[in-house]
Amino acid sequence: MISEKMEQAFCDQINKEFYSEYLYLSMQAYFERLNLAGFTNWMSVQIQEEHAHAIGMFNYLHERGGKVELLAIDKPQTDWKSPLDVFEHVLEHEKYVTSRINALMDVAESEKDRAALSFLDWYLKEQVEEESNVGGVLAKLQLIGDDKHALLLLDKELEARVFNQPVIG
Ligand code: FEO
Repeated sequence: MISEKMEQAFCDQINKEFYSEYLYLSMQAYFERLNLAGFTNWMSVQIQEEHAHAIGMFNYLHERGGKVELLAIDKPQTDWKSPLDVFEHVLEHEKYVTSRINALMDVAESEKDRAALSFLDWYLKEQVEEESNVGGVLAKLQLIGDDKHALLLLDKELEARVFNQPVIG
């Protein structure tokens, strides 16, 4: 049986993962408005990943005999200045999520919950990949600057991203 403290920490993180999904859905809407199909696709894949992250913890908490309490999801930002502005926001958000996963692992450590620590290891590795992936797109956007032609080429490249259902834990 999972401790109450651990249970609450998981519920809080489930909420953060659903907020991430919501935030990226708002970013997808922004890219839809700009008619950038590749950026739209990139966000739609990101949304599915965030959903998988949330459901992974949702399932795990049940597996451990815990109670899932779904919390209110904050309203996300709806407008950005540019694709660069969006990706700066994504990287900043992913760094925040990484800090929350670390905090969750701190709780697992203080609760001496080694099973949770082992489960969360997957999320920690996933955050390294997420930050690297986002950082890669951000670096290209920084290089592109105001070059609209280069932006359209990057948009084309981002059309290739596909969602692979992760095996969590
Ligand atoms: Fe679920 Fe992008 O972290």
